[in-house]
Amino acid sequence: MISEKIEALLREVDRAEAGSEKEVEELRVRLLGKKGEITRLFDEFRTVSAEHKREFGQKLNNLKNKATEKINELKGRIGQSESSDRTTDLTMPGDMHELGTRHPISITREEIISIFRKLGYALAEGPEIEDDYHVFEALNFPPDHPARDMQDTFFITSGHNPVLLRTHTSSVQVRTMERNRPPIRVICPGRVFRNEAISARAHCIFHQVEGLYVDKGVSFADMKQSILLFVREMFGENTRIRMRPSYFPFTEPSTEVDISCNICGGKGCNICKGTGWLEIMGAGMVDPNVLSACGIDPEEYSGFAFGMGIERIAMLKWQVRDLRLYFENDVRFLREFETSI
Ligand code: DAH
Repeated sequence: MISEKIEALLREVDRAEAGSEKEVEELRVRLLGKKGEITRLFDEFRTVSAEHKREFGQKLNNLKNKATEKINELKGRIGQSESSDRTTDLTMPGDMHELGTRHPISITREEIISIFRKLGYALAEGPEIEDDYHVFEALNFPPDHPARDMQDTFFITSGHNPVLLRTHTSSVQVRTMERNRPPIRVICPGRVFRNEAISARAHCIFHQVEGLYVDKGVSFADMKQSILLFVREMFGENTRIRMRPSYFPFTEPSTEVDISCNICGGKGCNICKGTGWLEIMGAGMVDPNVLSACGIDPEEYSGFAFGMGIERIAMLKWQVRDLRLYFENDVRFLREFETSI
């Protein structure tokens, strides 16, 4: 019977003695190990009828506590006598603590922020759970724009001005302009979400850094110079940029910015697919409609904005070929960035 076994084991625990650490460990395994006697009683306990469950449960827990206490007590006693026999060797090296590393995405984000800080940009943040107005409408997305499609956006609610996970950090532009008057110079790092199949080149969660500069008389030339300065700090002073005309609803004119390939110096290699150029960000002059939506007079003020993916910048900086590595937290991958801190 189970109660007799409990009684017998209680007596055994009471009487148990051990002369060495090894013996204590053997006792522990025999009683509390995976296949230990007390562990087995817990298995048997499952078959006890409902009316007796409470009584046996208490007895069994008591036995387990007593056994644990006894084992700790024996361990303590042996530890004491062993250490008093030995003289402590103060020349022994200490225990090694493994050093942690910063994640490559954090390293890259901090580097981007610190470059723009030198240019006088302040840090701004906004919510990851946003509404349609701040992610799309105020940014001049026409109602039927494909980015509003269920394909790309994770919606949380439906109906008028649905709640959703932001698909880009451009929403922080809107929040910043709603609350501040020019001059505005902010950099907005953050996590963004898109309903995409995960592959080496795409992930449903990634990070962006958005930049925004609004003041009187801000020009396209200012934008070009700021971006050039940034890429030279980030990728080396010989880096060149190229701007290709593009389209974003919230900027006019819009451009996509390429840098000269930092692997081959622009000659053409397999990283830049032989073109000598690598795309790094979208940018443009803030569309007057966006300024108006945020209560800033486009007749008086102008501005530029840009947005880049942190994963992409980190990939180009360290030649990471698979985006998934950033999210798997494989220490072999993370250790490679130990020296980059
Ligand atoms: N929001 C864009 C994206 O997620 C990136 C971007 C492009 C941001 C141009 C900007 C910009 O501020 O001016 O693809």
